[in-house]
Amino acid sequence: MFASSTLPIGHSEMLSKFSDRSAHIGVIGMGYVGLPLTLLFSEQKFRVTGFDIDRNKVGILSRAGSYIHRIPATEIEGAIGRGFHATSDYSEIERIDAIIICVPTPLNDHNEPDMSYIISTVESIAPRLQPGQLVILESTTYPGTTEEVLIPVLERHNRFGLTVHREGDTSQSRFYAAFSPEREDPGNNTVARIDVPKVVGGVSSAATELACALYGSVFRQTIPVSNPAVAEMTKLLENIYRCVNIALVNELKLLCLRMGIDIWEVIEAASTKPFGFQAFFPGPGLGGHCIPIDPFYLSWKAKEWDFRARFIELAGEVNLSMPYHVVDSVACALGSQKKPLNGSRVLVLGLAYKKDIDDLRESPSLTIIEQLKLRGAQVDYNDPYFPMVGKGRKYDLNMRSVPLENISDYDCVLIATDHSDYDYSRIVREAQLVVDTRNATRGVCSPNLVRC
Ligand SMILES: NC(=O)c1ccc[n+]([C@@H]2O[C@H](COP(=O)([O-])OP(=O)(O)OC[C@H]3O[C@@H](n4cnc5c(N)ncnc54)[C@H](O)[C@@H]3O)[C@@H](O)[C@H]2O)c1
Repeated sequence: MFASSTLPIGHSEMLSKFSDRSAHIGVIGMGYVGLPLTLLFSEQKFRVTGFDIDRNKVGILSRAGSYIHRIPATEIEGAIGRGFHATSDYSEIERIDAIIICVPTPLNDHNEPDMSYIISTVESIAPRLQPGQLVILESTTYPGTTEEVLIPVLERHNRFGLTVHREGDTSQSRFYAAFSPEREDPGNNTVARIDVPKVVGGVSSAATELACALYGSVFRQTIPVSNPAVAEMTKLLENIYRCVNIALVNELKLLCLRMGIDIWEVIEAASTKPFGFQAFFPGPGLGGHCIPIDPFYLSWKAKEWDFRARFIELAGEVNLSMPYHVVDSVACALGSQKKPLNGSRVLVLGLAYKKDIDDLRESPSLTIIEQLKLRGAQVDYNDPYFPMVGKGRKYDLNMRSVPLENISDYDCVLIATDHSDYDYSRIVREAQLVVDTRNATRGVCSPNLVRC
């Protein structure tokens, strides 16, 4: 599918470098996405440099340490042995063949895309950009970002007057650009990361070919698409699909609670259908850096086209209301024991946004704790992954995880995250009252247990 006769000089050299592993890879953003990707390339014998503005992370990596629970320090040590190093110094960009950008794409206070991380990264790359380099954006973002943000900044601010390679272009003073979404599902150990096909959309078919060759050395399958916008939209479709279906099942849970029907049993029964149904599960609200955020990148962009993305807005409304439903349920459960929420001691189990991971970004537990405190409850939490929680962009808790020794001292134990470490039978046995938002206590029957 790639027209090699029209390719600029440097293209086939780059393909050879990917094939013989002599290419030097730069990954920008040593977070949940960038660090594991770095290790995958390193395992395939590529020399990788990890860039991060967070000097603390750079320091830990340089000392062969890890700050991500599922990545043991030995893996960093192994990568260092294969030539990996971390740095905050962008001057190294000049020596890199392929640059992969994995920086955050959060929302600002008005629920609009915060592009500042991508822009400042690209502004740091541009003055060091070299002819023939391949620049790939992996951060989740709205369709059009590669063409409207990444390329203009790179073209405007580089020293050599380089422009992006487009179809049929044979000039040497070009760089290559592509978008390839990260599709990781933290905590999901059923699919190895290399088995998740890599969607790649280059600005030209040569850029797509280069990016596919690069990722093909690590991932089992690459899926070339016609341009970066298709790849950008693909990622959003995947996450919006999840967001909308989770909202649907959250709303149906509220109805089922009112009707006295067990939504979990309903989902289990529906899941026996061998076609046409995929199970999504209700919970205390959405969390993580993707599902609560990415859909709003598209609804924001849609407005530019005089279009209201109503499914996204409705799903956001339902999902955002869930932590408040949980707090009301705790108040109601305490009320049934003739206790007011104001003044009651509540122990929240689980800060992470989902089970068995060390990520609390956008976690509904944070909102739940804040709301419980606002309504006068005395709140403690336990989470094996977070010995303490300080201040974030949207919360200021300054709390420490308490041991699980004195469960019976609390008026209510709230299961917010169903970590596998917890002994749920024991918790129900010892607690005065348990409110379960995750069906973690399935199979357990007790008058002091409320599912919400
Ligand atoms: N975490 C996930 O499971 C996941 C899954 C799919 C997609 N994504 C997307 O991938 C992107 C990265 O997410 P993440 O979870 O790795 O974020 P993260 O916050 O864990 O890591 C991002 C890193 O980028 C660094 N950074 C910020 N600005 C920088 C700059 N100018 N130069 C160098 N480093 C800089 C930060 O210090 C941080 O270490 C986001 O767009 C996210 O939506 C994340």
